[in-house]
Order: sequence, then C-alpha cells, then structure tokens
Amino acid sequence: MKNNLHVVHSLSAREPAKKVPFQRPHLGDEEIKEVVETLRSGWLTSGPKVKSFEKKFAAAIKARFAVAVNSCTAALHLAVEALELRAGQAVLVPTMTFAATSEIVLYKNAVPILVDCDPVSGNMDLRDAEEKLRQLKEGKLAVGNAGALEVVGIIPVHVGGYLMNIKEIKAFAAKHKLWIIEDAAHAFPAAWRENSESGWEFCGSNTASVTCFSFYANKTITTGEGGMAVTNNEIIAEKMRLMSLHGLSQDAWNRYSAESGWDYKIVLPGYKYNLTDIAAAIGLHQLERAESMRLEREAVAGYYFDSLADISEIELPPQSSDRLHSWHLFPIKLDLGKLTVNRDEFLEKLRENGVGCSVHWRPLHRHPLYAEKLGWRETDFPVATHLWKRLISLPIFSSMTVSELRHVGNTVKNLCADFSRKKAVRVA
Ligand SMILES: Cc1ncc(COP(=O)(O)O)c(C=O)c1O
Repeated sequence: MKNNLHVVHSLSAREPAKKVPFQRPHLGDEEIKEVVETLRSGWLTSGPKVKSFEKKFAAAIKARFAVAVNSCTAALHLAVEALELRAGQAVLVPTMTFAATSEIVLYKNAVPILVDCDPVSGNMDLRDAEEKLRQLKEGKLAVGNAGALEVVGIIPVHVGGYLMNIKEIKAFAAKHKLWIIEDAAHAFPAAWRENSESGWEFCGSNTASVTCFSFYANKTITTGEGGMAVTNNEIIAEKMRLMSLHGLSQDAWNRYSAESGWDYKIVLPGYKYNLTDIAAAIGLHQLERAESMRLEREAVAGYYFDSLADISEIELPPQSSDRLHSWHLFPIKLDLGKLTVNRDEFLEKLRENGVGCSVHWRPLHRHPLYAEKLGWRETDFPVATHLWKRLISLPIFSSMTVSELRHVGNTVKNLCADFSRKKAVRVA
C-alpha cells in the first residue's frame, strides 16, 4: 500500500466525530448544477446526457461499448439475455455475493451452481469451481435435476473492488467452454496486472464478455441508482441496448429529435431498464472525479492499515502492488479465538459507539431460498461458512474526515482491547 496519508490529511478535519456512517455519497456542486440544468432542459429521461455518460465511461476503462441502465442488476440481467442463457443450463456463481449475482440466473430458469470462496480475499475460489463441476458430473450435487445440466457460464465477483486474477478466470473459462460475465458492482475504477513487468488492465476493458458496474448510492461513483453493462462485442452491446428499452428499434430521444420520425419497431421482448438524464448528469461529474475519489478511499485504507496493523485480534484485507483497488469495502476479519465476543456482539458495540458497519455478506447458501428451496448445504462451502461469521466491513468513503477515521480506528482498537481473551485471562 502506497502511503497516501497526505490525501487523508488534506481532507477537512471537522469536530471530533461521534457518529460515522457506513457510507456517504460524495457529491459536489458540479453534480448539483448539472442536475438543475437537466431539470430545466425539458428532457428528463434517457437522452444526450446518458449518451455522453456511456461514451465517457467506455473511454475511461478502454472498452468499446457501454450501455447505461438503472442498476447493476439490470445490467447483469441484460447480459444473460444477450448471451442467451436458457432453462436447463447452469452458471457458476460465488456463494459470497449479493442476491443480484445469482437471481438473474434464476430469472432465466437456469441453475446457479454456487462456489466457495478464497479465505483471504473472499473472491470465488476457482479450485472449488473445478470441484463443483466434477461433483455435478458425478451427480453428487444436491441442486435440482443436476445430472441434466449444461454449465455454460461463470460470474465472478470482485469483492470490495479487489480484482481476481483475470488470467486465471479466462483460462478456467476457456478450459470449460464458458462465457464470463463479470459482476463488477464494486470494481470501478479497478485494475490488475500479472506482475510488475506487465501493463495495467482495467476491469471491463477486455476482462469478460460483459462487465456490469453499479452506481448505487454507496458505490465508488454514484448516480443514486444506476448501472452500466460494458462489452467489446457489438452484437451483444446492440442486443443489451435494445432490451434495455422494450426491444424498441429507436429510443425516445431519437424519435423526438428533429432528424428522425416518430416511428419505431418492436424487435425483441425487452425491459424498462433505461437510465435517466437526471441520473447521468450526476454520473458525468462522478466519472470525472473517479480517480481522485479512489485515491481518497485508498488513503482511508492506508490509515486503517497503519493504525490497525498491530491489533492481533483482527486480520486486515489483502492488498497487492499488482492490483489497483477501488476500495469499495474495507472488510476486517475477527480472530474469534482471541476475542470473548462474537461478530454480531462486536458489531453491536461498534454501533453503540456510533460506527456504522456492515457485513459482506451472509453467503447465498445461508439464505432460505438457497438452503431450503435449492438444497445447498453448509458443508458444500466450508470456507465461506466459517469466514462470514468473522467479517465486518468498516466505513470507507471518499469524503471521510480525519476525525471520522480516528474515531473508527480508536473504537476498533478499544473494543479489541476490551474484549481480548488476553485481558480476560489477566483479570482472572
Ligand atoms: C456484488 C454485487 N452485485 C450486484 C449488486 C447490485 O447492484 P445494483 O444495486 O446496482 O443493482 C450489488 C449491490 O450492492 C452487489 O454488491
């Protein structure tokens, strides 16, 4: 981790923070001005601002096509539509993820094959993906009519914005003839390289068939609600664009603009997933500041690494000189063997001390839909089953102040000292 403390210290130090939210959107006067201008422009829905946002976003990550939609979930849905996922097919999905990654497979009556995670990064474990494919072939997985399933794709998630090894995902997909849709909800801007000799590759540049980003309110850049599906394949891009707006041959902006007529044709069954110009007005300025906001998040992470390094009751997240980390999340892992409280009790103490935290995530196999209806068992995912009980995501956002940072760092340190088993032994 580069020492970016100068960035944190340049943030305004307010009065000592008593309450620190888990996330806070970082909006400037430019966003507000552009939204007001949009409201006054007479054009509120998808129009010139969306077109410009798409173009600039694609250029920022060096991809050919970007389709703006109203959520990352919509982008993921359009991606499986464009890749023609069908009933009776299956897709490898990490169990350590949010609902959206897997539910879009269920939308198509296809089957998500859940995969365990890496114990350090929480990202999908490709060795377990291999194992799940083997078990599926041998009829040893208790999911639906597994024997008849054809596995056609894989949806890796870059948890918290720490990219998986893209070369390994591509090799795995090539070996098993799978398409790749990246769930990059957390991963903008983020990049990886194989080693210090190789060049940086941005998430979405050429890392998958389709890469899907989220601009939900707590993401690294936001449009309130919003998402982007990115691809280098013109046919896939065109299909996603058509399906994002009812499968119409011409969107409203084109129909109402002076050059074109009113007429349109329905060429595909589509959805109402388009982004508005109001949202794109925010996105355009967030995009311009994306790298400076990433650096501010990196500085927050740097502060946590410096101030929490010697606390033996917790483990800090991975970092690497071969990753440009978006730092959407800063997940710590409690060493439960060294503490007298469990994760939920620790979280409650953080909350009582005004520190907003979260857990990413209760793994999918621990939800009723996947456990009771789809038949996944805890023993199918030994790593995630153990890991999630230790996870706490600390506040990390680009507008975080020094006093907010200190409050979080000191609270974590104090709680670790208060509930350390070492202390309990000394007192006894
Ligand atoms: C990994 C992951 N994928 C997808 C999504 C869905 O994003 P959206 O809310 O933009 O649909 C989220 C939301 O936080 C997420 O964490």
